Amino acid sequence: MFIRENELQEKIKTLAARINDEYQGKEVIFIAILNGAFMFAADLLKSITLPCEISFVKVSSYHGGMSTTGRVDELIGLNASIENKEVIILEDIVDTGITIDKIITLLKAESPASVKVCTLLYKPDAFKGKKAPELVGMSIPNKFVVGYGLDYDEKGRNLREIYQLKED
Ligand code: IMP
Ligand code: MG
Repeated sequence: MFIRENELQEKIKTLAARINDEYQGKEVIFIAILNGAFMFAADLLKSITLPCEISFVKVSSYHGGMSTTGRVDELIGLNASIENKEVIILEDIVDTGITIDKIITLLKAESPASVKVCTLLYKPDAFKGKKAPELVGMSIPNKFVVGYGLDYDEKGRNLREIYQLKED
């Protein structure tokens, strides 16, 4: 599998247009999950026309390699108040959904008006979470991918395209 730069940028513009439409007249706070979502967040926000804020947070959940431990202890770096605000979480990829479920639980404890998940990539065949992400750039097969923010052992985040890792 391979996703070209053009295709990624088109999907991101489509997502931004949907958000601009669905949240018309509302004030949104985007919560981007580091490190993976840094590039996606930057490109998406360029096409958002709503009054908005963005905050970058880090979770301790993933410890490298090709499998997920699913451990999320806390959200680090959320210094903005999200009380009564429309929250859109920005993720690079939703795989099993364990990470995003825990992030949603942590954010809901801060009494936001609403919480939705906007993810660039989604692996429906791997998903075991409670609720599928509402805003999805692309659904992909259950394969490990790198590039455009996504890493393999912290490498490959700088690539402009998305590549499937060889499995051998
Ligand atoms: P989940 O908890 O299984 O949904 O996994 C979420 C996290 O695992 C993501 O935020 C990524 O950091 C990492 N991850 C899952 N699948 C991939 C992949 O295909 N490539 C790179 N990272 C991945
Ligand atoms: Mg990672």
